Amino acid sequence: MGQRVIEVPESMRASAQIDEATYRAWYEASVRDPAAFWGEHGRRIDWFKPYTEVQDTTFGPGKVSIRWFADGVTNAAHNCIDRHLATRGDQVAILWEGDDPAEARAITYRELHAEVCRMANVLRNRGVAKGDRVTLYMPMIPEAAFAMLACARLGAIHSVVFGGFSPDSLAGRIQGCGSRLVVTADEGLRGGRTVPLKANVDAALARLPADSVDHVVVVRRTGGAVAMEPGRDVYYDAAAREVTDTCPAVPVEAEHPLFLLYTSGSTGQPKGVVHTTGGYLVYAAMTHQYVFDHREGDVYWCTADVGWVTGHSYIVYGPLANGATTLMFEGIPTYPSVSRFWEVVDKHKVTIFYTAPTAIRSLMGAGDGPVRGTSRASLRVLGSVGEPINPEAWDWYHRVVGDGRCPIVDTWWQTETGGILITPLPGATRLKPGSATKPFFGVQPVVVDGENTVLEGACEGNLCLAASWPGQMRTVWGDHERFVQTYFSAFPGRYFSGDGCRRDADGDYWITGRVDDVINVSGHRMGTAEVESSLVAHPKVSEAAVVGYPHGVKGQGIYAYVTLMQGEAPSEGLRKELVAWVRKDIGPIAAPDLIQFAPGLPKTRSGKIMRRILRKIAEDEFSALGDTSTLAEPAVVDDLIENRQNRS
Ligand code: WTA
Repeated sequence: MGQRVIEVPESMRASAQIDEATYRAWYEASVRDPAAFWGEHGRRIDWFKPYTEVQDTTFGPGKVSIRWFADGVTNAAHNCIDRHLATRGDQVAILWEGDDPAEARAITYRELHAEVCRMANVLRNRGVAKGDRVTLYMPMIPEAAFAMLACARLGAIHSVVFGGFSPDSLAGRIQGCGSRLVVTADEGLRGGRTVPLKANVDAALARLPADSVDHVVVVRRTGGAVAMEPGRDVYYDAAAREVTDTCPAVPVEAEHPLFLLYTSGSTGQPKGVVHTTGGYLVYAAMTHQYVFDHREGDVYWCTADVGWVTGHSYIVYGPLANGATTLMFEGIPTYPSVSRFWEVVDKHKVTIFYTAPTAIRSLMGAGDGPVRGTSRASLRVLGSVGEPINPEAWDWYHRVVGDGRCPIVDTWWQTETGGILITPLPGATRLKPGSATKPFFGVQPVVVDGENTVLEGACEGNLCLAASWPGQMRTVWGDHERFVQTYFSAFPGRYFSGDGCRRDADGDYWITGRVDDVINVSGHRMGTAEVESSLVAHPKVSEAAVVGYPHGVKGQGIYAYVTLMQGEAPSEGLRKELVAWVRKDIGPIAAPDLIQFAPGLPKTRSGKIMRRILRKIAEDEFSALGDTSTLAEPAVVDDLIENRQNRS
């Protein structure tokens, strides 16, 4: 099935903005003369002061510096709101669908302007100014987007923390960037259950020095009772009544940071990925337009959470910069029933739908019936993001959800890349189930072997980028050296994605997954080191090693090998306790799926844990362990195999 080719549908070929010939011509131009190409396309957004410089980037060796449109001056909120007012003030900008199917809101561009200005004034009255960091810990309600855009309007830098992260994780992220103001909600609502957001903020702040945060702005979502600390906490509705609904957009340089977003890597604690204003917005908007073939009148729905980069680029910034109608969904795919996605598609006549393979696989498990019972006639383009999509899930998405009619754009990118890098374009690219196919304009993928030798033609290796694109991250917040080390040291002179890939004879790319110690659980990135450090912080744990293993719905599951302290005995109770511990420490997305109590871990004589062996055992592929002769104690492997937790 993996070799199947699906040609561009005739109707799409004729009507799409980019056909095959245009793709080739533009791509060729974009890599031949990037400055000319981006110089032209950078003008798709408004500039208060036009740029004269386009590209100033170097990947080293030595210095790594990335600047685009550097002498231009603009503002992201102006581009996402104000510039649309004259032509589409009464068009819906944000279509919000509540967790409860009876709740919905439609916010026009004019209303968005007023809401964002109010929010900006509330923040400004509390001292937020250009360059300040503001942490947002929000449910999926329009106020999350208002708060992001309010920061952008003021030139403040938002740091959105996913609502599923624990108070500890939140505290680390607040402190990491020195936010003095947090915007949150009383409670979130997902699948009929409440999420104690404000209580989590209180718990996070209790862990920080008393004077770390001056203000907590609390949006009322459920109206549930929460503790409010006088002088620090204020309800948003009360604060918003005191301000006007106009607020000027502060002009910022193209390279002024727009946001930072913490993401997991292979080592250490999560790092703050910094994206700047001009290049990011140009890239997010341009990819949104062409990858989804977005047109006037479309109703576009990306099911991600604004806590992840997909929500930033493809719910908020890309679509709004393009004057789109973007749907924001508060709930989950299975509530009140497994038909929810398709009911929402019919209710709002969604034309473009963008989701993650994990959601597709879980809904596929419920059979065709819940899908077939809905119309979905409005759909034109389907998208996938976050992890490799297996051909079976791809086929079901195409055949059942899209009735065989809608192209699927399998979009490969990362928090670090700001926007989509490898993807089909609906009117230009023949599809292969499981392949992200071809690079977007200006993107120059290279596949290298372990020695940084560029592989040609059909090959398999490490996926790098040879040159910069405007949406690329600029640095790690407060630690440029870590940025250089993480992305530019393994393969000097190139940006290394951390992913492996195969390129076939047609030049199509197949992403094979992470080659580092990052695992991808339901499309959420998790560093194995983070889970390990949480486990070893438990008083009964002496050592832990965490790896990923194939999981039918989540893509990868979290498999933890745990060695207990002397005198501690393994038990079911302790297993549950450890899962709960990590869940509480980092958040539910980090909870191990399987824990194996191991009297010893396989180590080299110099004491390094041999993860390759642990991965194989977790994959239930212990017959292919390879060379174990360098182990200090080869016998531990037999015990690990005997007590493995993932048996097929
Ligand atoms: C993986 C999400 C295969 C990949 C936008 C990458 C994918 C990591 C795809 C980034 C795809 C994302 N096919 N793998 N279409 N999209 N990935 O930072 O391993 O949350 O490195 O960004 O997800 O995850 P992140």
